[in-house]
Amino acid sequence: MAVLTGKTVIVTGAAGGIGRAIAQEAGRAGARLALVDADAARLGETVKAIQSDGAEVLPWVVDMTDRVLWQKTIDDIAAHFGGIDVMVNNAMWVRYEPMAEVQEDVYRRQMAIGLDAVYWGIQAVTPHMIARGAGSVVNMTSPASVHGIPNGSVYAAVKGAISALTRQCAVELGQKGIRVNAVAPGPIPTPGTMRVVDEDGWKKRLVRSPLGRLSTPEGVARVVVFLASDAADCVNGDVVFADGGRSVSAM
Ligand SMILES: NC(=O)c1ccc[n+]([C@@H]2O[C@H](COP(=O)([O-])OP(=O)(O)OC[C@H]3O[C@@H](n4cnc5c(N)ncnc54)[C@H](O)[C@@H]3O)[C@@H](O)[C@H]2O)c1
Repeated sequence: MAVLTGKTVIVTGAAGGIGRAIAQEAGRAGARLALVDADAARLGETVKAIQSDGAEVLPWVVDMTDRVLWQKTIDDIAAHFGGIDVMVNNAMWVRYEPMAEVQEDVYRRQMAIGLDAVYWGIQAVTPHMIARGAGSVVNMTSPASVHGIPNGSVYAAVKGAISALTRQCAVELGQKGIRVNAVAPGPIPTPGTMRVVDEDGWKKRLVRSPLGRLSTPEGVARVVVFLASDAADCVNGDVVFADGGRSVSAM
């Protein structure tokens, strides 16, 4: 198991789904956790679950699309914990619809949380990691970053940008001791995806999985924690596909 003992880890979008699993796995790996989400009630449930495992954890309820507030939050987290070692950029809001029907508010919301908040978050966390002499950033991308998906034009644009930003930051920040990687999970039923994928959609996704099963939040979380930890100290600029081989299948 990867170790994060004594490391301060920010997980965004930690109120449920994959983010909650990442927070729980990082807590079990020994991390001190700063959990960020806009949903106060569900974030509180995550915090309770992690506290019962014995980990040190604090919630920050923030709308990360407010750049000034989000960057100040990162400074506040650093001041509270005395630094930041790891940032997991997981929060997202997704809608699938034909490109012809996409309205500007839906486009902007996906871009704002999926790309802008990641960009400004990395900008704000970098000085705190440089002060430590090291750091690790893990971004959540998607197979949609490299393959077209039905009605996913905005989502694909967001995730393609996240994969490109990951590689760029790996080169630019690597020189300062900061590793930047990404994880591309396969389809997983979560509060976010259950809103946009129907029963038939999940059946189709299952059929296309070479392992005959979907990925799980826990399985993805183990990959994220590995990349965040010193066990992955040679890995920088990589995108790990945690999709059970779905992306390499011609089925
Ligand atoms: N579930 C999948 O099938 C899947 C597949 C590939 C990639 N991913 C990626 O993994 C990540 C997690 O996916 P998920 O399905 O668990 O997501 P989800 O939608 O279930 O959870 C996202 C979280 O982000 C939070 N959030 C949204 N807008 C916010 C804002 N403005 N400020 C603060 N918090 C905000 C939500 O409250 C929510 O708790 C996402 O980046 C997603 O794109 C998911």
